Amino acid sequence: MDTSSKRIYTRVLTTGSKLSDREVTNDELAAELAQRGVQTNDEWIRTRTGICRRHIASDGQTTLSLALDAARDALQKGNVDPATIDLIIVATTTPDGVFPSMACRLQNALGIKGCAAFDVQAVCAGFVYAMSVADGLIRTGGYKRALVVGAEVLSRLLDWNDRSTCVLFGDGAGAVVIEASEREGILAHRMHADGSFGVQTLACDARIEQGAVQGHPFIQMNGRQVFKLAVSSLSESFLEVCQMAGVAPADVDVWVPHQANIRIIEMIGEKLGIAKEKTVETVQMHGNTSAASVPLALDWAVKNGRIKPGDTVMLQGVGAGMTWGSVLLKW
Ligand code: ACO
Repeated sequence: MDTSSKRIYTRVLTTGSKLSDREVTNDELAAELAQRGVQTNDEWIRTRTGICRRHIASDGQTTLSLALDAARDALQKGNVDPATIDLIIVATTTPDGVFPSMACRLQNALGIKGCAAFDVQAVCAGFVYAMSVADGLIRTGGYKRALVVGAEVLSRLLDWNDRSTCVLFGDGAGAVVIEASEREGILAHRMHADGSFGVQTLACDARIEQGAVQGHPFIQMNGRQVFKLAVSSLSESFLEVCQMAGVAPADVDVWVPHQANIRIIEMIGEKLGIAKEKTVETVQMHGNTSAASVPLALDWAVKNGRIKPGDTVMLQGVGAGMTWGSVLLKW
């Protein structure tokens, strides 16, 4: 009797994305902010962050509408029947309501029912967390095909009078369909958190209580602290996950880091010796889209021919909590 059982891998089948309708350049944003008496300019934003433009959700756009468009894009491109999905995970910090979850809303919008659906809240590390959770569930053998989405309308949490945060973020969604396979896919992943870097470091510290918003419903951030933590945590995580997978860091072909600030990406790249041509950079076009940043960058890389079959791809997220993590996979 053959008692050997083959390892189950999780492979990416298809990717998709949706950017919110309104593209706003730094100059346009600076002009809008000037009307409020808030001073900023393209030069400051570009040199400190790399961001040149971002997409801001129009009134009718919601986290659900962005998530649905990104999911449909992925499903269509992969020729996937939504009825074959048995797990939906949405990573978001900006759900359309307290409950039901965005994953349940998305399931309904896709016209399917019965499959597992839940949200992951790990802020900018949300998509990497969601991929890790999905991989864990698929590898049990209990789930075969998952839709994993990162979707955000961060612009709705911005204080437009706070120039140190309101120039950084954008809205959008990215999606992947992943499935069980005997071929190599996700090789290793690791999630981390350190709650001691909590509300004081990076937060939107508000809640609904007795029908009213309590607390401060805007993003507040210690930018310099976040910058340092992002560089150290992602650098360590990159090496950790390579080691777990038995992959030499130099053998990573494509690096898709969280897109918060080009200086963070460049500093990690220099520290680890990652060549520029291996690095996917979309922060210039998208700004920081939190949980949507990595899947948006991944879909952009796929569409632009930056990832080819057999490539070893590193996905990395870091965000409030602090949370961070990496997923290393074979394409
Ligand atoms: N336009 C013009 N001037 C500005 C702006 C702006 N939009 N924002 C701040 N300034 C001014 C400040 O008031 C300050 O002026 P002062 O020297 O007269 O006091 C000056 O610029 C320098 O401010 P710093 O905060 O010291 O600027 P720094 O070089 O640290 O850059 C930044 C700030 C871009 C926020 C940086 O710290 C950063 O990127 N940190 C990472 C934060 C991040 O990525 N957060 C995203 C969420 S978390 C995540 O995704 C991981």
